[in-house]
Amino acid sequence: MRLLVPVPGVFITRREFIEKSLSTLVSVSFLEMLITRNLLAGSIKEKTDHWAIQLNEMCRDLKTQAIRPSVWQTRIEALLGTVEQADLVKFIDFDKLTRAFQYPDLGVNTKYVTFPKIAGLPDDVQFVKKIFGMKQDRAIIPHGHKNMVSAHYVLFGEFDLKHYDKLGEDDTHLIITPTVDTVVKPGSVSSISDEKNNVHWFKARSEIVFPFDMLIFNVDPSFGKSYDIDNIDPYEAEEIRPNVWRAPKLDVDTALKKYGKETQH
Ligand SMILES: [Fe+2]
Repeated sequence: MRLLVPVPGVFITRREFIEKSLSTLVSVSFLEMLITRNLLAGSIKEKTDHWAIQLNEMCRDLKTQAIRPSVWQTRIEALLGTVEQADLVKFIDFDKLTRAFQYPDLGVNTKYVTFPKIAGLPDDVQFVKKIFGMKQDRAIIPHGHKNMVSAHYVLFGEFDLKHYDKLGEDDTHLIITPTVDTVVKPGSVSSISDEKNNVHWFKARSEIVFPFDMLIFNVDPSFGKSYDIDNIDPYEAEEIRPNVWRAPKLDVDTALKKYGKETQH
């Protein structure tokens, strides 16, 4: 049997007609899938690009002292809270970064992160970007900071996270009070500055863990030093007032030996 199709002078069989129609349907749905996928990829890219530009603007505002460090912390934590872990992993090319990653026996190893080229994002962004990787029971040892800020987004794994506010110091001790004691997971965000949650301490609970860090040094150029870090010994801290502790400062080697690897399980 032959069917007349709406093209003058062209005749095809019913079977040819059905096959052609099915093939067209398949092509249309394949095309729709491709369009949807591209739109989705486009929207993820747009979202991630937008996030990176906003991040850089916040960091520029801090560097020009248009906002205080504690305001930067509130804003950056809110912004990072909107970023999907899977999007960030793709954006920084995490797989490539962690290929042949060397995990130290004590403490952490780091790798610098490069953002892809984005319209509106200058090449000389206002912050340093790094991933920190470590194995279970290793730690970013307890330490306080001077003249710098940093924000931390958990990419993989779980950490025990402790923060302290720094209330004062002398040559040998920091005076601290606990502010955060929690477990953080992928997508969790934290930050430090001279004003808030100055001291932090991450202990890896999972087999492998990775936070992504954004750091700005020399927040106040009049400070006279780009930044400084004091490792401390919370286990030897003495409570001098209710919930206020005087913790000894430690040199890096001693601190790493004591806190770089602690078995918790
Ligand atoms: Fe730190």
